[in-house]
Amino acid sequence: MSRGTATDLVYLVAIVGFILALKGLSSPKRARAGNLAGAVGMLIAVAWTFSLPSVYGTTRNLVLIVIAVVVGASIGVPAARTVKMTAMPQMVAIFNGVGGGAAALVSITEFIAFPTRHIALYKIGEVLFGVIVGSVSFAGSAMAFAKLQELMTGRPVTYPAQQPINALIGLSILGLLSAVVATASTPLLAIVLALSLVLGVVFVLPIGGADTPVLISLLNSFTGLAVAASGFTLNSDLLIVAGTLVGASGMLLTRMMSEAMGRSLPNILFSAFGSVITAGTAEGAADRSVRSGTPEDIGVLLAYARKVAIVPGYGLAVAQAQHTARELADALAERGVDVYYAIHPVAGRMPGHMNVLLAEANVPYDQLKEMDEANPEMPTTDVALVVGANDTVNPAANNTPGSPIYGMPIVHADQAENIVFLKRSMRPGFAGIDNELLYDPKTTMLFGDAKESLTKLVQAVKAA
Ligand code: TAP
Repeated sequence: MSRGTATDLVYLVAIVGFILALKGLSSPKRARAGNLAGAVGMLIAVAWTFSLPSVYGTTRNLVLIVIAVVVGASIGVPAARTVKMTAMPQMVAIFNGVGGGAAALVSITEFIAFPTRHIALYKIGEVLFGVIVGSVSFAGSAMAFAKLQELMTGRPVTYPAQQPINALIGLSILGLLSAVVATASTPLLAIVLALSLVLGVVFVLPIGGADTPVLISLLNSFTGLAVAASGFTLNSDLLIVAGTLVGASGMLLTRMMSEAMGRSLPNILFSAFGSVITAGTAEGAADRSVRSGTPEDIGVLLAYARKVAIVPGYGLAVAQAQHTARELADALAERGVDVYYAIHPVAGRMPGHMNVLLAEANVPYDQLKEMDEANPEMPTTDVALVVGANDTVNPAANNTPGSPIYGMPIVHADQAENIVFLKRSMRPGFAGIDNELLYDPKTTMLFGDAKESLTKLVQAVKAA
């Protein structure tokens, strides 16, 4: 078998691994296996590529490859091993940005190496696409990282005529393209590159920190497309397929998240959501009475319930309370209580946030119910125990037209017979709006850090 055929076959195996990974990641049960299939596919692809004489070719190339692998692995491996679950979005942002930057660099190198000024239009098109989309993704992801890591304000940054200025930068890039195509001039390409980096920055400025996961998913899709463009430039089927898979899945995920938040993508990208805290929040809340309970009372309520829904949200991640939530569920299950977790698709701050946390705590998969499956169960549920969630159970999404979250699907905790909120204060969630459910006569508040409250509830249930 020729080396070319062997390469095609090896890359085909790697591609099957990537496809199995995407398939696996669509269900919590198969996610680990899916992840492994993707990682094995990537390992095979990288190992085979580096073994090709056309890649390592000279000793100089080999040394450069080894240096790059050592530097990349010594940054990437410890970062991935030590990252906290709450810091996962910024980790994804920075890794995605590096991918976009790499794709842009490949395109720039190819552009500089063009042997003649008369290059086929489609060839130069691939290269320009890779440079522009890759560098927008790089700069945008770096900004998203800075916001999520709180290196800068997480609130939307706005200024007069922001969107027209952004549009002008975009149009200038498009305008310059024909000049680059006509002249194949490297200095002109450098200007396109600089403007694309600026566009990446200014595009992200008006997007609020908590909306950045949607943005990251979109940028991830851009990176995929830039990688696919590099694949065309380098005649690599592997890069074309891998890039297209990332591009398509990132786009689908972006759409699904926007739908789950009840907001359109343009609203997320251009409305500077979260720059102003909506009226009627914590200050107004001070005048209204709420019922708060003791861990002992709530422990008894839970211990003698028939059916309990645990509704996790961002606060569960902040408190790292997933293991204690599971302890409570186990203690209840031991008493014969039917326990399930009701998972909202955008609970937390990144796609699948709750699933990942609960999987880490080895929660049995059959107890995990996605929102659409959990909601029909709510009217027959005795207690909805809302752990650090707020917007995702806020009935304003259903009954308050004009509310920023109006139209967002919610977990119907309000339909349970009793509702218990574990949170630290009356402060609102990400959307910055008051939640009427906190004042509902059926609701009991247990104030405090979710992990501490859950620990007290475990003791109370065991003592009941
Ligand atoms: P939120 O509405 O943000 O509410 C989280 C609640 O957790 C807060 O009210 C906070 O109240 C409480 N909390 C924080 N730290 C806590 C701790 N240590 N112990 C106990 N409670 C704590 O969260 P959610 O219900 O999960 O909704 C997610 C929101 O993020 C939605 O608006 C969604 O649209 C948005 N979003 C999600 C995504 C994805 S992909 N998941 C992407 C973009 C935006 P206290 O401060 O009073 O404790």
